[in-house]
Amino acid sequence: MQTAKIVADPEFKIGVVDPRLYGSFIEHLGRAVYGGIYEPSHPTADEHGFRRDVLDLVRELNPPIVRYPGGNFVSGYDWRDGVGPKEKRPHRLDLAWKTLETNEMGTDEFCTWAKLAGVQVNLAVNLGTAGIDAARSLVEYCNHPGGSLYSDMRIANGYREPHAIKTWCLGNEMDGPWQMGHKTADEYGRLATETAISMKWVDPSIELVACGSSNAVMPTFGIWEATVLDHVYQYVDYISLHQYYYKSNNDLGTFLAQTVQMDGFIQSVVATADYVRAKKHSKKQLYLSFDEWNVWYQNPVDRQLMQETPWQVAPPLFEAPYTHEDALVVGLMLITLMRHADRVKIGCLAQLVNTIAPISTVKGGGAWRQTTFYPFMHASRYGRGTVLNLQVHSPRYSNPTYDSVPCIDAVAVLDEEHGQLTVFAVNRSQEEALSLEGDLRGVGGYEVVEHLVLEHADPMAQNTIERPPEVVPHANGDAQLTQGKLTATLPKLSWNVIRMAAVGSRS
Ligand code: AHR
Repeated sequence: MQTAKIVADPEFKIGVVDPRLYGSFIEHLGRAVYGGIYEPSHPTADEHGFRRDVLDLVRELNPPIVRYPGGNFVSGYDWRDGVGPKEKRPHRLDLAWKTLETNEMGTDEFCTWAKLAGVQVNLAVNLGTAGIDAARSLVEYCNHPGGSLYSDMRIANGYREPHAIKTWCLGNEMDGPWQMGHKTADEYGRLATETAISMKWVDPSIELVACGSSNAVMPTFGIWEATVLDHVYQYVDYISLHQYYYKSNNDLGTFLAQTVQMDGFIQSVVATADYVRAKKHSKKQLYLSFDEWNVWYQNPVDRQLMQETPWQVAPPLFEAPYTHEDALVVGLMLITLMRHADRVKIGCLAQLVNTIAPISTVKGGGAWRQTTFYPFMHASRYGRGTVLNLQVHSPRYSNPTYDSVPCIDAVAVLDEEHGQLTVFAVNRSQEEALSLEGDLRGVGGYEVVEHLVLEHADPMAQNTIERPPEVVPHANGDAQLTQGKLTATLPKLSWNVIRMAAVGSRS
């Protein structure tokens, strides 16, 4: 068996994980909201119409923050449609997804759901068809205590206490020609700047995310970030990144290697932000919000449904089931995000329920965990603390697209307060298990708590509601830690979580 080596020293740190790194996303798209989190006729529905079975799964998954209400949807959304008496709310054409929006769920209901789910809200404003006025009014509606038009409107709608939303997105993917109100970098940069100023005048405590590129292969990538930040640098806290991967030409080696590109994407955005900082002689450091990421198969059937039978309420869109290999890529994306914890402070798995999601539901029926549920849950539960600057020496593979891809990708997170150290590792090898040897120098008095493994003989295995889930983690990994030396077998095509704790910290 070939060997991979890791070296971790608690003195060599990358950065502290912001819990919001493990966020998620709910858009008014397909059955994410209607039939996902909200289904008043469902047997488990609570008094608000929220599915309790879904709430339970969201709590188990453990995202600390959820972005809402879009996505492309937000670029045509008038937030005023979604507040006040439900019977008076208009039905609107949603041009982003060619559906009919009933507005039964809106900002207030989402904030109620978020409280029940135990998550913060990351609210996006419309900078496509709307602008400064709608954005600053929404901040007033959500965060102002009372005594003004919009805060009193919230109170009259039954929400005495402000929603106190801290994290806000200045629009969505404004570089994309598919976006309603698509803009050039200069147009968006100016609008984002003036909107940010007004929003922060209403509530100076909020944090703002400016739109970066929709993905790293946009023709304007790089120039977009530099131009937008040239305008808005002083007024925002984060710049966004979005990235979805999928397997093409049945090429698993390339599919698994794509996080090498994600790593480069993050490095480029950091470099661009720091270039603007230098140019402006600014002391302020900008952070990154990777607020859409996932594996996403764009099935032509979904686009066909939108074109051929438009203006349906909550049609099933983008509900392709996930496979074991998709879970590995989600795990690799999580490792990549953690490795950049010093600069990437927010991450949003896109999305949460039904649409491109780790949780799936049947209308009137059950809910279940997709394969991708598990790496995300593990990262969110055990990936809190300080990311160590792990040295990884691994066998490598090459293919026509990627050269010298490490078979093992890994990261280590130390939670000194609770005396916990966790190593997350994916074995990309399709051929063989690898033996992991870890030199955990300086980590004295720790023992292995458990070694969780997600593996499957069939990389295409899926979980369905009809039969017991096939792709589930087991805790039979063989990791051992003796005098600072870690050993473990990482099965081929596996996600591994090796949890260690200071001796005595578990009692
Ligand atoms: O998450 C689905 C869509 O992907 C979002 O609406 C959009 O922002 C992105 O292109």
